[in-house]
Formats: sequence, C-alpha cells, structure tokens
Amino acid sequence: MDVRGQNFDLILFSVGRRICPDYPLVLRMIPVILGSLLNSFNWKLEADIEPKDLDMEEKFGLTLAKAHPLRAIPSPL
Ligand code: HEM
Repeated sequence: MDVRGQNFDLILFSVGRRICPDYPLVLRMIPVILGSLLNSFNWKLEADIEPKDLDMEEKFGLTLAKAHPLRAIPSPL
C-alpha cells in the first residue's frame, strides 16, 4: 500500500502540500528501529496472552487506533 498520499486507507504522513517532509527518512528508519528492537530482546505479551488471542478491536476517532493499546514486554536475550 502506498503511504505517500495516493491510498486513502493509509495516510500515515498526510497528503498534498502539508505532507510530512521527513517521510523518506522515516520510511527507512522504522524498519531499522523495529528490527533492532525485535532482535535485541525477547518479547512477550502482557499477562502471557498468546499472540493469536490478541485483542485487535479498533477505536474510531480522528485516526483509527487499537481500542486496547498493545503492551509488549521486553526481556534480555
Ligand atoms: C513515524 C514518524 C512520523 C509520522 C507518522 C509523521 C506524520 C506526519 C503528518 C501526518 C504530518 C502532517 C500534519 C498536518 O497535516 O498538519 C507531518 C508533518 C510534519 N512532519 Fe512528520 N511524521 C513523522 C516523523 C517526522 C520526523 C522524524 C520529522 C522531522 C525530523 C518530521 C517533520 C515534520 C514536519 C516539519 C511537518 C510539518 C510539515 C508542514 O506542515 O508543512 N516528521 N508529519
């Protein structure tokens, strides 16, 4: 999905003249940051919930957010 304003299902960086000027950097940094975090820690869900049981309910507002925030707990490798 194109996040640069062509697909209105996902307008992460806004569109048009006010589009986030830093999105080219952000699009490169997010995978690096996320990959570093995933590779540097063991992760589990709060209260030992299984990933398949994760509550994916949505809350509609100015943006579409998870109704219940994801709480992932890191522990040393
Ligand atoms: C995941 C990271 C980011 C997301 C999702 C994001 C998203 C956005 C969005 C949606 C807007 C438009 C706001 C509006 O419509 O008024 C915006 C504007 C802007 N963003 Fe980002 N942004 C991110 C990171 C950054 C970073 C790292 C920088 C700079 C180091 C940055 C600099 C700016 C600036 C200066 C504007 C204002 C542009 C203008 O109004 O002309 N953003 N960003």
